[in-house]
Amino acid sequence: MIKLVHKAQPFVAEHEIAYQEPLVRTAHEILHGQKGQGSDYLGWLNLPSTLDRTELDRLKETARRLAGSANMLVVIGIGGSYLGARAALQFLRHSFSEYKQDAGMQVVFAGNQMSSTYLAELLDVLDQYEVAVNVISKSGTTTEPALAFRTLEAYMIQRYGSDGAASRIVATTDKARGALLSLANERHYDTFVIPDDIGGRYSVLTPVGLLPLAAAGVDIDAMIAGAAAAERDLAVCDLDANPAYAYAALRSILHQKGKTIEMLVSFEPGLHYVAEWWKQLFGESEGKDNKALFPSSADFSTDLHSLGQYIQEGARIMFETVLKVAKPRRTLVVGEIAGNVDGLNYLAGKEWREVNDTAMTATRLAHTAGGVPNLLLELPDMSAHTLGYLFYFFEKACAISAYMLAINPFDQPGVEAYKTNMFALLGKPGFEAQREALRSL
Ligand code: PA5
Repeated sequence: MIKLVHKAQPFVAEHEIAYQEPLVRTAHEILHGQKGQGSDYLGWLNLPSTLDRTELDRLKETARRLAGSANMLVVIGIGGSYLGARAALQFLRHSFSEYKQDAGMQVVFAGNQMSSTYLAELLDVLDQYEVAVNVISKSGTTTEPALAFRTLEAYMIQRYGSDGAASRIVATTDKARGALLSLANERHYDTFVIPDDIGGRYSVLTPVGLLPLAAAGVDIDAMIAGAAAAERDLAVCDLDANPAYAYAALRSILHQKGKTIEMLVSFEPGLHYVAEWWKQLFGESEGKDNKALFPSSADFSTDLHSLGQYIQEGARIMFETVLKVAKPRRTLVVGEIAGNVDGLNYLAGKEWREVNDTAMTATRLAHTAGGVPNLLLELPDMSAHTLGYLFYFFEKACAISAYMLAINPFDQPGVEAYKTNMFALLGKPGFEAQREALRSL
């Protein structure tokens, strides 16, 4: 389904991949045997095949209700509580859906930063739409979404009244804890649960991702089916038969060879936010104990005219993982013009896909010649099924890769450092000592 078409030859030899087999096997046994650090966060591993269908029906019913009363959904969340939905919407929807009158529910995101300009300008446009809000926070206490929700909830109550707002606001959070749950219960908002054993960046197939996607009209059943196919295909511990494991092994080999940056690149703009989701997945899962690859990304051809120079001739510290879409959602044929004044008639009659694929091949060859290894992963198409498969593919590869590095893939202790400083500097009660310490610097 997702093929590993190119394995970074000539930078990696077949025997090097074979030598990774015992490490991969150990990681596989740790993961599937639930023996590793973070093993209480493995709910995602069998999630596609074990989804609670009754809860899924309730989710679809809620999504239908929201779509029936609103044409703009504001999704409030940060990190794993928004990136999956954002990635899926960009990949699956029409590239210009916000300008299409028949596009159905518009979805905008808030609470992933604290820009007053962004939020104030969002409020400027909300009056032109019928609005619904899905606030998402597993902890229920993350400052950025909580603060955005405070403002947006006030807007909703002022516009629709308390009862009207209550019918348009849905909270997705922990089943038992957190300020968001208390608030939702007090105000009688519908709630959906993020399971205890699934961390934010592994939560796209929980209500975190599924509710906004269903409200936007995405075929979530196809996405779940794609992830379930991946769950089956990628359970086998065999580097030849499991491309997610081969990908993890190749990353490890290239890292050992001094490549410290992995760039996820594609020639399909619809994959931009998939790369953002991927960066969070790998960055938060592996970036610990002063080790691991730095996950980065680029959109080609666009960035060939900005980062391309560096990739070709700058420090030799990176490799690329190229995501290719075999069958684009839409096709176009290059036309012919009289007089060939732009000199492009040599392309007339070719499909744009062929030109784009040739740009990809040319780039891979140039980067290989310039000392930048590249792997090539091929997606069959731009369907919801393929995306579900891809999400699971990277989740599995990430867990295996982290365990190969002896890292707990499921915590994120480093994220607390900025929060502690921010709370101290903002004067949050309980952070007085840290405030004094920071002031003395
Ligand atoms: O992957 C993670 O766990 C994090 O990125 C969280 O999703 C992010 O910090 C948001 O947390 P919360 O959902 O608790 O607001």
